Amino acid sequence: MDLQLKDKVAIVAASSKGLGRAIALGLAREGARLTICARREDVLEETAREIRDETSAEVLAIPADVSQTADIHKVVSGALDKYSTIDILVNNAGGPPVGGFLDFSLDDWRKAVELNLFSTVAFSREVLPVMKNNNWGRIINITSVAVKEPIDGLILSNTVRAGVTGLAKSLSREFARYNITVNNICPGRILTDRIIQLASIRAGKEGRTAEEALESMGSDIPVGRIGRPEELASLAVFLASERASYITGTSIQVDGGLVKGLF
Ligand SMILES: NC(=O)c1ccc[n+]([C@@H]2O[C@H](COP(=O)([O-])OP(=O)(O)OC[C@H]3O[C@@H](n4cnc5c(N)ncnc54)[C@H](OP(=O)(O)O)[C@@H]3O)[C@@H](O)[C@H]2O)c1
Repeated sequence: MDLQLKDKVAIVAASSKGLGRAIALGLAREGARLTICARREDVLEETAREIRDETSAEVLAIPADVSQTADIHKVVSGALDKYSTIDILVNNAGGPPVGGFLDFSLDDWRKAVELNLFSTVAFSREVLPVMKNNNWGRIINITSVAVKEPIDGLILSNTVRAGVTGLAKSLSREFARYNITVNNICPGRILTDRIIQLASIRAGKEGRTAEEALESMGSDIPVGRIGRPEELASLAVFLASERASYITGTSIQVDGGLVKGLF
C-alpha cells in the first residue's frame, strides 16, 4: 500500500525515546521529513542520528520541554524555517506521575495539565493555521487506554487525557472540511521506559522484581504480552497518511485487547 507519505513534513513531539521515537522512525521509513524534540539534547541528537542513518530522512532535532509554550513555539518555527510547511503533527509528551487524588497538590495538577493537555492545545494552535492554508493535515494525539477505562492509581492521566479526547473531537469536527483529520491513539501497555517505570513502582509495592511485575502486566492482556513500540507506530503512520482520509475524531486503542469496554 502506498501511504503517500514521501516528503510530507511531520513534527513528532517527545520523540527521543519510546512511542514518539517509534512513530518518528515509522514516518521516516515512509519518506517523511521530520522535526523531533525532547528535553535531553544528547539523547535527542543520538535518536536523530540513528533515524538519519537508517532511513536517510531529513531530521531536525530541537531540544524542547513541551510543557513550556515558548519551547513549543521554538519547535514549530524551527520546522517552518527548515521545511516551510507542516503536514503532520503528533502530539506526545511524557506521562504524568502515578498516584491517587490525595497524593497531589494543585501545583501537580497544573503541571499535568500543562504537560499533557496544554501542550496539545499549544502545538495544535500553532500548526492548524498552516494545515488549514494547505487544505490538508493530520493531527494524532497519543493518549492512553485510560480514556476508555480509567486506570486505578493514575488519576492525573485519567483526568487530563479525557480533556485531550474532548479537544480532539471538537477539532476534528471544526477542521474536517479542510481535509484535516484529528485522531487519538490510546496505548495499553507498550514496552518503553515509561512502562518499565510503572512496573518498578508496582514491583516495589508488591515486593517482587520489576521483571516479575512486567511479566504479570503482560499476562493479563488477551494477546498475552506487552506490546512493541513499532506496533503502535504502525497505526500512527497509517493515520498520518492519505489512506486514512475518512478517519477522524476517533480514539483507537493499541492494547492487545486489554480494554473490556465496547467503545
Ligand atoms: N508506554 C505505554 O505503555 C503507555 C501507555 C499509556 C500511555 N502512555 C503515554 O504515552 C506517552 C509516551 O509514553 P512512552 O512510553 O513513549 O514514554 P517514554 O518511553 O518515557 O518516552 C518519553 C519521551 O518523551 C520525552 N519527554 C518526556 N517529557 C517531555 C517533555 N516535558 N518535553 C519534551 N519531551 C518530553 C522523553 O525525553 P526527555 O525525557 O529527554 O524529555 C522521551 O523521549 C506518555 O504520555 C505515556 O504516559 C504510554
